[in-house]
Amino acid sequence: MAATFTFTRTKKQLTWLITGSSSGFGLSLARIAQAGGHKVIATSRNPSKTPDLVKEVESKGGKWVQLDVDSPHSAQVINDLEKSGTEIDILVNNAGFSIYSPIETMQEQEIRAEMESMYFGPLRLTQAVLPYMRQRRYGVIVNMSSGASLEARDSMGAYAGAKAALDGTLYPSTPRVSKQLKLTINAQA
Ligand SMILES: NC(=O)c1ccc[n+]([C@@H]2O[C@H](COP(=O)([O-])OP(=O)(O)OC[C@H]3O[C@@H](n4cnc5c(N)ncnc54)[C@H](OP(=O)(O)O)[C@@H]3O)[C@@H](O)[C@H]2O)c1
Repeated sequence: MAATFTFTRTKKQLTWLITGSSSGFGLSLARIAQAGGHKVIATSRNPSKTPDLVKEVESKGGKWVQLDVDSPHSAQVINDLEKSGTEIDILVNNAGFSIYSPIETMQEQEIRAEMESMYFGPLRLTQAVLPYMRQRRYGVIVNMSSGASLEARDSMGAYAGAKAALDGTLYPSTPRVSKQLKLTINAQA
């Protein structure tokens, strides 16, 4: 029997921090969140490459911040926002990419690059935001996973591994964390 879910809309304006907002799902989500009256902190590696998007988001009350999720200092963005009074209600770990190649011809540095952006990057941001969410007893963390993490394709082995690693790391903590807080950690494909 298919599960049914009820989604309720909150009346509170929520603050979203979205990684990889310069295109695709990240950009769409930023636009949908703003259209729903929420505050968006959009991020990308090179905001100067998308001045029109920066203008669009900031003209609707949002903010655009430079963020490379590969950086070992990426968590600073969360600490800076929180310490300046911006409470992050929803973290969307969206930034990601796939190098399409059979695994035997992939260079180790390419595989590491996928792990950096889609495993260590989101994990670092999750570790940084959790203490603030825990303190407020509220928060949502959305990880953009992939069906590939369950059923890898020939040309997406490293990508699938990075997505599956994040799923495996965060899912086990979900029931425990969410019992203590009104916190949701989930994956979208
Ligand atoms: N498209 C699909 O069919 C599909 C299916 C399942 C899951 N997903 C997942 O959904 C997410 C978004 O995919 P998409 O198709 O919307 O991709 P996309 O259009 O290529 O956008 C990817 C975004 O990630 C950003 N990015 C990449 N590496 C980054 C890094 N190191 N630091 C910060 N930002 C980085 C890019 O920003 P800049 O380059 O501007 O910095 C870009 O905004 C990804 O995690 C992807 O794996 C996609």
